[in-house]
Amino acid sequence: MKILVIGGSGLIGSKVVTNLRQLGYEVLVGSPSTGINTMTGEGLANAVKGAQVVIDLSNSPSFEDQAVLDFFETSGRNLLAAEEAAGVKHHIALSVVGTERMLESGYFRAKMAQENLIKAAKVPYTIVRSTQFFEFLGGIAQYGTVGNEIRLSPAHVQPISSDDIAAIVSDTALAQPINGTFDAAGPEKVGLAELMKRYLTALKDTRVVVSDSKAAYYGAQLNDQSLTPIGEARLGTATFAAWLNKSQSAK
Ligand SMILES: NC(=O)c1ccc[n+]([C@@H]2O[C@H](COP(=O)([O-])OP(=O)(O)OC[C@H]3O[C@@H](n4cnc5c(N)ncnc54)[C@H](OP(=O)(O)O)[C@@H]3O)[C@@H](O)[C@H]2O)c1
Repeated sequence: MKILVIGGSGLIGSKVVTNLRQLGYEVLVGSPSTGINTMTGEGLANAVKGAQVVIDLSNSPSFEDQAVLDFFETSGRNLLAAEEAAGVKHHIALSVVGTERMLESGYFRAKMAQENLIKAAKVPYTIVRSTQFFEFLGGIAQYGTVGNEIRLSPAHVQPISSDDIAAIVSDTALAQPINGTFDAAGPEKVGLAELMKRYLTALKDTRVVVSDSKAAYYGAQLNDQSLTPIGEARLGTATFAAWLNKSQSAK
């Protein structure tokens, strides 16, 4: 079976490519660096030819509101049109838990647009909605830094390791499409500001985390339900402490 992984050179994409190749599948990495560009359409028709499954793990190079919306709309349209023409049997995409509760945020409006295009297309699909990856904490810190301070909400998050979400996405690619969405999350709920304090302490980063319930997260205010699964979710096993240990000993 041929599987195309769009964004196969990225954080989650590269792990999914490795997992599926280890199981013996023919996996094609789709990214601008391999001549496959979902924004311009370059290389797409050839890439989807003969593929039964397409996994979209791409992300926008810019998180600016209009740029990210253009990325997920244009990429989504180009990719789904190519898949329809080639008769692809299963489209999988990675979205974010709580997307419909976060529409104050430009990034989440773009993810909603991506999900809506998938639901409206003719290709059978599964949308995996993940919580934040532990690996994304550095990006969150950077986003919230002003001077030496990082202002973050104390609201709950339930982050997951990239290894765990890659395993869940890989399993999904080998299962039947559900024509729906499911949530995936890490094993523990923790306040975002508290988690960031632990993360920076471990990295000996001297920035100061200020817990502020009004602090925006990518343009949206948070409460304990915003970014955590409501109802059933598939859970990863790596705790923050285990992930930190593993990532620090890998250095
Ligand atoms: N960060 C989180 O905590 C989180 C949580 C839930 C869901 N997600 C979702 O998870 C997905 C994957 O995130 P990630 O952090 O693994 O991404 P990433 O590491 O930033 O990788 C992005 C990938 O997209 C590719 N790409 C960029 N522009 C492209 C284009 N025009 N055509 C084809 N491919 C293109 C990149 O290729 P090059 O290497 O060639 O640039 C790269 O392989 C995203 O959709 C994100 O919304 C993220």
